[in-house]
Amino acid sequence: MTDFNEHTITQAVLKSFSATPDPRLRAILASLVHHLHDFIRDIEPSFAEWQAAIDFLTRTGQMCSDTRQEFILLSDTLGASMLVDAINHRMPEGATETTVLGPFFVEKRPDVPNGADVSAGRPGEKLLVQGSVRAAGGGPLPGATIDIWHSDDDGYYDVQRGDLDTASGRARLRTNADGKFWFWTIHPAFYPIPHDGPVGELLRATERHPYRPAHVHFMIAAPGYEELVTHVFVAGDPYLDSDAVFGVKQSLIADYAHCPPGTAPDGTRMDQPWRHLSYDFGLKPLAAALQTGAAA
Ligand SMILES: [Fe+2]
Repeated sequence: MTDFNEHTITQAVLKSFSATPDPRLRAILASLVHHLHDFIRDIEPSFAEWQAAIDFLTRTGQMCSDTRQEFILLSDTLGASMLVDAINHRMPEGATETTVLGPFFVEKRPDVPNGADVSAGRPGEKLLVQGSVRAAGGGPLPGATIDIWHSDDDGYYDVQRGDLDTASGRARLRTNADGKFWFWTIHPAFYPIPHDGPVGELLRATERHPYRPAHVHFMIAAPGYEELVTHVFVAGDPYLDSDAVFGVKQSLIADYAHCPPGTAPDGTRMDQPWRHLSYDFGLKPLAAALQTGAAA
């Protein structure tokens, strides 16, 4: 076949993929070609605009490194990450809601016992985080692993700072025999997503701000349950209603209570005012995930 024009090209490309053996790949490619060609017909890009788009995506890839994930930022700021999240997490009663992973999770993090201070001495208001992990609608889950990571008092993650040689505001711990966990850290600050790259250009061109409301990230895993990836946001934060990555859910907003000097619930004597977050998590059983998938 030859002489394709703007009316016949789509069918020709669809036909070229029609013998793809994997039915899922075949369906995905058919939808991609349909939507991509319709998008191009809708915007009718000039060659210069198409070249700018290629250049934008090229630079987005080139911006990525072990500690910087520009494509996740792009997915997040377009709402694509939260859409994928919403489709994949239709949650049962009692299960904690999910939100974006974000670009600052890294595999390298220290294992710490309950009660540890994970701030590595960074300045900021001391924060005690206490919580529990339960099966949604069920009992406590001992031995669940809990990854936490959060910004510091200046709004930076440890991996963004060139002046740190140890993890800070980042650790992995486990629930005790009662399904409980607790650790000390510093209160996180709201922060801008990295905006010195292509995604920042996009935000400036569209007059959007780059800020995310303050939060602590949690990734919680236990055998037989769906891994939970979520945040707990700080109630009262000025950016709760305009998160640059659309990640806020009401059930994930909690009081990081202001506490006067005194004795904290874990027995620590506090000479300065401090903050206290108490939050209980519910994990979705894998069996429920299978049932939900079958019903969908
Ligand atoms: Fe974050």
